[in-house]
Amino acid sequence: MGLDFQQFIPSLPYLLKGITVTLQIVIVAGIIGFILGIILSIFKLSKIPVLSWIAAIYTSVFRGTPLVLQLMIIYFGVPQLTGIQIEPAVAAILSFGLNSAAYISEIIRAGILAVDRGQKEAAMALGVSPRQAMFDLILPQALKNIFPALINEAVSLTKESAVVTVIGVTDIMRRAYIMGGEKYAYLEPMILAGLIYYVLVMILTTLAKAVERRMRRSD
Ligand code: ARG
Repeated sequence: MGLDFQQFIPSLPYLLKGITVTLQIVIVAGIIGFILGIILSIFKLSKIPVLSWIAAIYTSVFRGTPLVLQLMIIYFGVPQLTGIQIEPAVAAILSFGLNSAAYISEIIRAGILAVDRGQKEAAMALGVSPRQAMFDLILPQALKNIFPALINEAVSLTKESAVVTVIGVTDIMRRAYIMGGEKYAYLEPMILAGLIYYVLVMILTTLAKAVERRMRRSD
């Protein structure tokens, strides 16, 4: 009975190694989600109906089904359909990247719409091409405004990444679970894992605050 953290000291390095696994998934998935999110948001605002439909359906599917289901569909579906077995980490990065793109595209879409129309009109009047206006004028301003929302998404991604445990990725969560199984005591490793996630999220939000302050000063 009671808590005994002592017995887990030898396996702390093992648990801490999970941080790299978790961060790898979060960072690569975040980059995929961001790039795909920009593309989808531009599709959503496009005057070409097919593009806006594709983007709308994409978001509705990825937001409308559980992330853990998408993860399993990719992990089990890709080998079944193609005969190629993929690494659990690859399935995790893919599903998290694709899922996050749906959320990020909505954030960016709202950010683009919030940039004053007059700016685009002024650019057009000066003979700037629509494409150049989007990438050099509108997107940079939109990204600055939506920065807090993007950080929110990064926080979600970091915490949600714990579900990759279900396909066997040895992330922080899975390592804590394995440690619990070895000692028949799960509470202590779960508390330790919780601390690690909390510290990761705190570092992320503190960094974000600093960047935000800097951006505001440069205004
Ligand atoms: N638990 C939610 C789900 O299963 C989280 C979705 C991921 N959220 C995110 N902002 N990428 O669908």
